[in-house]
Amino acid sequence: MKKRVAVLISGRGSNLQALLDARQDAYDIVLVVSNVPGAAGLERARAAGVEALVLDHKPYGKDREAFERDLDHLLVLRNIQIVALAGFMRVLTPFFVRAWAGRLVNIHPSLLPKYPGINTHARALEAGDDVHGATVHLVVEEVDAGEIIGQASIPILAGDTPETLAQRLLEVEHKLYPECLAKLARQL
Ligand code: GAR
Repeated sequence: MKKRVAVLISGRGSNLQALLDARQDAYDIVLVVSNVPGAAGLERARAAGVEALVLDHKPYGKDREAFERDLDHLLVLRNIQIVALAGFMRVLTPFFVRAWAGRLVNIHPSLLPKYPGINTHARALEAGDDVHGATVHLVVEEVDAGEIIGQASIPILAGDTPETLAQRLLEVEHKLYPECLAKLARQL
């Protein structure tokens, strides 16, 4: 049986697109939720015939858990089995992380444990690294610290900027994420 996957986004949704394009026997994407109204990824979902919803975090103010309780409700109602974060730019509270433990996955643009958090491309360049990469991992309470499902790397070239590096890495992310999601889906 294909696992029912929800993808959470905040913006462009190119990784969502890669996950949609690579749907196969292991998983299906049945819901996309954006915390940002008008996120471009919502249209990608609709174009693929997938339900796409906005759950704006702003009306919840500082009550992160209230936002997540409503999000969790949407997911449970649709019998979601795996939640995939794809450029979802909000840190989740222990409530949500515990509720979805082992079934909550993220893609992060660095070779974790290097460079958790933001500005990963600039930090890899500043450190003088000659290799950069992306990681798909389970989400735990500590940010960008869960069990690694898969990684892929690219060389850093002379003249790279954070932008060129991000662009080249994105192509690698688009192969890595569907492979890792399928791997997790088969294990569950
Ligand atoms: C991707 O590069 C993803 O790895 C990164 O945001 C980008 C989203 O692009 N995620 C994070 O930084 C998570 N902390 P997309 O919306 O086109 O998939």
